[in-house]
Order: sequence, then structure tokens, then C-alpha cells
Amino acid sequence: MVSPASFLVPFLLFLSLCITPSIAISEAEKNDICSNSMNPRFCGDFMKAEQRVASADFAGVAKIGVEVAHSRAKDTLNFLKSLIQKTTDPKVQEVYKSCSSNYEEAVSVFEEAKKNLSSKNYGGATTTVSAAMDHADSCKDDAQGTDPSLPERNENLKSLCSIILVVTDRL
Ligand SMILES: *[C@@H]1O[C@H](CO)[C@@H](O)[C@H](O)[C@H]1NC(C)=O
Repeated sequence: MVSPASFLVPFLLFLSLCITPSIAISEAEKNDICSNSMNPRFCGDFMKAEQRVASADFAGVAKIGVEVAHSRAKDTLNFLKSLIQKTTDPKVQEVYKSCSSNYEEAVSVFEEAKKNLSSKNYGGATTTVSAAMDHADSCKDDAQGTDPSLPERNENLKSLCSIILVVTDRL
């Protein structure tokens, strides 16, 4: 009589090959991605802070990056909307209004980038994420008296986009 284990072991092996087609990126690959990105230190922090990165392959890192960028862009958009309400200085308010339309664009572009990634359209993702980066760059916070956290938010979003672009370039 054949023991059930003799079926089970090859079956499980086969199954494990089917469900783990991706290989998590190595420390060396992470370092390589980061050293090619706009802000290597920001990138290193991102890789550590996002726990899902530990088990993600290249496509996974791109997906996590876009999700985080999307949610941060939405957060900045809400922040800008609240600043528009609070400020009385028309010049400063103009900056916030213009930045909020930049961020509205960025948010919708990240939504497209998510679709690009789920349909494995990596070239499309590169185009959309580059566009988002330009939108963050267009938020000119150069008027006197704008919120001091705005430049950092812009820089962080650009740094994040740059990580995604290094990764999508390799997909
Ligand atoms: C992906 O990105 C491109 C931008 O190059 C866009 O035109 C396209 O419609 C996007 N959508 C999908 C689902 O790939």
C-alpha cells in the first residue's frame, strides 16, 4: 500500500512552486535601488519602515511604493485644503490653491499608476509616476509665510517617486 505522504510531499512541493513565483529582493538589491534613487537615505528609511518590503519582489516594491505615494499625496492634498481655509494672506492662499491642484493631479495619476502596475504595464507606470513627480515639483512653495512642512512634503513625494522609477525601470 502506498502511504498518503508519498503523494502529499510532491504535491506540496508542486504547490509551493506555484504559489511562490516571486523572490524577495535582497539587501544588496535594496541598497542598489536606494543608491540609484534621488535620496538614498530617504529610500533606506522607506525600505525599513515598510515592513511588506521585506517579502516583496521588484513588482511588489513598486506596488507598495505607489500605494504609499498615493496615500501621502492624498494626505498632503487634505493638508493643503485645510491651509486654504485657515490663511488670510491672499498670496499664500494662491500658493496653496495652486499646490492643491498639483496634488489633485498627482493623486489621480497615482490611481492610474496602480492600474498600470496591476496590468503589468511597467512602461505606463514609469510614465505616470514621472508625471506625479512633476506635479509635486510644480508645487512652488516660494511665497513668504507658507507652511514650513510643505517643502518637505514635496521633497519626500519626489524621493518616493524616484524609488518607484528605479524599480519600474528594472521590471
Ligand atoms: C498606464 O499608463 C499610461 C501612461 O503611459 C496610460 O496612458 C494608460 O492608459 C495606463 N493604464 C493602464 C491600465 O495601463
